[in-house]
Amino acid sequence: METYKTDKTVVELFAGVGGFNLGLKKSGWKVIMANQWEPGKKSQWAFDCYNEHFKDSVNLNVDVATVLAEDIPAHELLVGGFPCQDYSVASTLANSKGIQGKKGVLWWEIYRIASDKKPRFILLENVDRLLKSPARQRGRDFGIILSCLLSLGYSIEWRVINAADYGFPQRRRRTFIFATKDTAVQEKLYANKEAENVLLHSGFFAVPFGCHPYAGTRVRKIEIPKDIKSVSDDFSAPFENSGYCIDYVCYTYRVDSVYDGHRMTLGDILEKNVSEIFYIKPEDEPQWAYLKGAKKEKRVTSTGHEYNYSEGPIAYPDYLDKPSRTMLTGESTKNRSTHVIRDPETGKLRLLTPMECERLNGFPDNWTNTGMSQKFRYFCMGNALVVGLIEIMGKRINEIR
Ligand SMILES: C[S@@+](CC[C@H](N)C(=O)[O-])C[C@H]1O[C@@H](n2cnc3c(N)ncnc32)[C@H](O)[C@@H]1O
Repeated sequence: METYKTDKTVVELFAGVGGFNLGLKKSGWKVIMANQWEPGKKSQWAFDCYNEHFKDSVNLNVDVATVLAEDIPAHELLVGGFPCQDYSVASTLANSKGIQGKKGVLWWEIYRIASDKKPRFILLENVDRLLKSPARQRGRDFGIILSCLLSLGYSIEWRVINAADYGFPQRRRRTFIFATKDTAVQEKLYANKEAENVLLHSGFFAVPFGCHPYAGTRVRKIEIPKDIKSVSDDFSAPFENSGYCIDYVCYTYRVDSVYDGHRMTLGDILEKNVSEIFYIKPEDEPQWAYLKGAKKEKRVTSTGHEYNYSEGPIAYPDYLDKPSRTMLTGESTKNRSTHVIRDPETGKLRLLTPMECERLNGFPDNWTNTGMSQKFRYFCMGNALVVGLIEIMGKRINEIR
């Protein structure tokens, strides 16, 4: 068995304002290096916020593609929330020196760093559609991720988790990917076990995030090709919301959450005495009502083509006795997905405050109040993750390591 001299150390890529760092710190892990860079922006607000809060790690504000593996210290756990992009491999890029994806596609930076540093554990976060992308070759991009990690000796487990299903006050659904190359841990988690048992009871995610099978579904077996280029060209598979993969064989199962703990709602995280600036002006109310309402209308594209547009209504105002909808980066701008609530103290319609948005993700109050504009505070929370989920996953790694 390999020995790991990097006890509970973490390198955090795509660090944003530090959701992974906060959650992992609470579970006893220590980020020693972080990288965060907002492409094409002179002001690096997310990095500045991160750097202000985490002074005990080496924090790099450069394009991850320029970070040399030799400058990254050995570490036990590599983490990051990276974007869902097109991960395909162009034929000119599949060369004898190893596979290389398209420039600017950030998965390949994770792969490069993991190949070199070989951390014992990897924990990644992405949007839920990662499992189905791209639409014309469903499952290809996730197949590429699996094939890459398998080629480095990792086993991989994934689960789509909606934070609200486990008591958090926001419906935020994300794909989490856990990988390990420690054979003793792999054995403990997967050897001599029924796939169904791993995915429902004993696996990395099933223990802290209880689940049962979705009605009428069964475990599917999927083989992953060893050649990453052939995954890119031909592979397609119906990955469900849970699964694991070891030695190029995957098992995937559609599951539903099981949870009987305390459930928080949007109403639980509201501030009191909210400033007038967050209130909707009476003259803007009809426009908000229109944005949120059902539509069936003719629209014209920029090229003059006329088409029928329709959408159903969404809650207006948002329910206070339920978890919120997913926060997006455009939260607070005048668009349909911005939350509008009826303030319980005044009875008037208003937007959420930046601090309420921090609370929806489980960040400490005023976390992003580090010099950036209100607009960026919302933007950073739209990009961030639910800290409490990461704390649970950090503790779960403690149990199995
Ligand atoms: C989904 S967000 C991660 C948010 C983070 N987990 C948090 O809790 O705040 C992805 C982050 O990657 C950063 N990013 C995008 N391209 C990058 C690049 N080329 N190098 C480094 N960071 C990059 C973005 O600025 C963004 O903050």
